[in-house]
Amino acid sequence: MALTDFNLMDPQTLECPYPFYEALHEEAPVHLIPEMGIAVVSTFELLSEVVHDPKTYSSGLATGPVDLPGAFDEDEDPELTELRKKAARSGVPTLLAADPPFHARYRSLVNKALSARRVAGMENYVREIVTDLIDGFINNGKVDFTKEFADELPMSVVADQIGVPRSGLKEFKKRADLAIGGIERQVTPEEERNVLQAKLEFQEWLLERAEERRENPKDDILTTLATAELETDDEPRPLNDDEILSIIEQLQVAGKETTAHLIGSAMLLFIQNPDQLTKVQRDPSLIGNMIEEALRTETPVRALFRTTTREVTLGGVPLPKGTVLMLIYAAANRDECEFANAGDFEVERENARSHLAFSAGPHYCVGAALARLEIRVAFEEVLKRMKHFRLDPDYPEPKRQTSYILRGLEELHIQFEKA
Ligand code: HEM
Repeated sequence: MALTDFNLMDPQTLECPYPFYEALHEEAPVHLIPEMGIAVVSTFELLSEVVHDPKTYSSGLATGPVDLPGAFDEDEDPELTELRKKAARSGVPTLLAADPPFHARYRSLVNKALSARRVAGMENYVREIVTDLIDGFINNGKVDFTKEFADELPMSVVADQIGVPRSGLKEFKKRADLAIGGIERQVTPEEERNVLQAKLEFQEWLLERAEERRENPKDDILTTLATAELETDDEPRPLNDDEILSIIEQLQVAGKETTAHLIGSAMLLFIQNPDQLTKVQRDPSLIGNMIEEALRTETPVRALFRTTTREVTLGGVPLPKGTVLMLIYAAANRDECEFANAGDFEVERENARSHLAFSAGPHYCVGAALARLEIRVAFEEVLKRMKHFRLDPDYPEPKRQTSYILRGLEELHIQFEKA
C-alpha cells in the first residue's frame, strides 16, 4: 500500500501500524500531513537527530497539539472550565514539556529520586508485590494478565513511593486511575468532570503527604521532592506545590501505563513466539535482553511530539519554525537500517538494547531503570512459577487500546499451568 492510503488515526492502523511504518520508511521518513498540521518522523537516524537537539526541537507540546482527536474540547460549561483551571496547576512544565535550561534543573532532582542506588534498593519490595499478585491467581489456571498483574505492579510501586499505606492501596488505585483517565482519548463532559474531581482530591491529598515528609522525612521519592532545593538564576529554593504536583503526576502517568503495557505485550509475544519463550525458560539470564527486544518490537510509548523553534531542514525536508513533529518511536524501532528482520521478536538479538523505546537525549526516560527492574522481577517470578501459557479460548482475541501515543493491550486473558 502507498503512504497516502493510510490514516494514522484509523483504528485498524493503530492496531497493526507496521505496514504504515514500512511505507513511511520507504516513501517519506519526514512525512508532512497538512490536514493534521504535523510532520511525522519515522526513521531511527532522523528521530535520534531530533531528540538530541532540544534547542531546535522544543518539547513544549510533549503530548501533541490540542486539536488532534481526543484532546479536551473547549466548551461553554462554566463549571467544567473552572474545574479545568484548578486541576491545571499540575500542568507547569517541569519534565516532559520543559525545555533547556529549566528542564535540566528539575531533571537533576528527579534523577536523584530515581537514582540507580535507590532503584536497586527497591528490588526486594518489588519482588514481594509480584509474589503477592501471582499468589492471588496461581491456583486458578487462568488470569486476565493485564488487569490482575501487569496493571497492578507499577501502580503499587508508585503508590509506595508516594507514601500510600498498604491498607489504603485499593482506594488510592481507584482514585489514581480516575485521576489519570481521559488522556488522549475522547471523553464525555461527565467523564471529564469525574476525572477532574478525582484529580483535585488527589492533589490535595498529595500536598498533605508532602508536608508530612518535610517534618518526618522517609526514604521515598516524595521526601526527595518535598525537601529538594531547585537551582534558579538567583538563590536555590524549595519546589513549590505546583511543581511537586507536576512531577508526581508525570511519574504516575509515565510510570504506570507504560510499564503495564510492556508486561502485557511481552506475555503476548511469548504466546505468539513459543520458540523464544523456550529459550528464556531454558536460560533465564536472557530475561534482560528479552525485555529490550519486547520494548523494541512492542514500543509502549509509540509516539510523542516536538515543535521546531526555527526554520530547519530535516532529512532533506524544509520545515518552517513552529512545525509540530510527531516522533514515532515505534517506527524507528522497526527501522530495517538499524535492526535486521525488524518485525521478528528475537530474544537473543545483539543490538536489542539500542532501541529508542525510552527515547534518548535530555528527555531519556528518567524511570528506565525502575521500569527495567519491575519488568525483570515480574518475568523472573512468572517464569519460575508458571508455564504453558496460551490464550483463553473463552475470550475474544486480545485487542490494543486505540491511542496514538501509547500501545498496549486492553485485556489479555490467558490460561497456564503451574511450573
Ligand atoms: C516500559 C516503561 C516505560 C517506557 C516505555 C517509557 C518511555 C518513555 C519515553 C519514550 C520518554 C521520553 C519522552 C520524550 O521523548 O519527550 C519517557 C520520559 C519519561 N518517563 Fe518513562 N517510560 C517508562 C517507564 C517509566 C517509569 C517507570 C517512570 C517513573 C516512575 C517514568 C517516568 C518518566 C518521566 C518522568 C519522563 C520525562 C522525562 C523528561 O522529560 O526528562 N517512565 N519515558
